[in-house]
Amino acid sequence: MSGHDALISAARTARAHAHAPYSNFRVGAALRAKSGRIFTGCNVENSTYGLTLCAERVAIFKAVSEGERGFDAIAVVADTESLTPPCGACRQIIWEFCGDADVILANLKGRVEVHRMSALFPKPFDQSFL
Ligand code: THU
Repeated sequence: MSGHDALISAARTARAHAHAPYSNFRVGAALRAKSGRIFTGCNVENSTYGLTLCAERVAIFKAVSEGERGFDAIAVVADTESLTPPCGACRQIIWEFCGDADVILANLKGRVEVHRMSALFPKPFDQSFL
């Protein structure tokens, strides 16, 4: 059991709730707050396509809207051989709220990779410029 198993398991469970009738690409995410609480999300698509929200942003916005701040890891689970990484928009949002957190990528076959946000998202624009 790795230290990330609980987070991967929560993301996998959340993935079952994905609303993905257009892409059929189902994603689950789970975010661990420094308080220990875990928040989950799934992708929620829309018939206008552009309003789709990724699983990662749903998990983060749920946590933030419940008053949680400070996160150290986020897991992303999809059914792909090559592990699904967060999109560019999600990387910006993950950086805003999680900083240089661990990003755990996993698939349904048990393949797992752990990346640091600073590797996935070098040279970010953030509050330090404002
Ligand atoms: N998607 C996510 O939820 N997270 C990712 O990391 C990659 C993409 C969703 C958005 C859309 O509903 C579907 O996957 C296909 O792009």
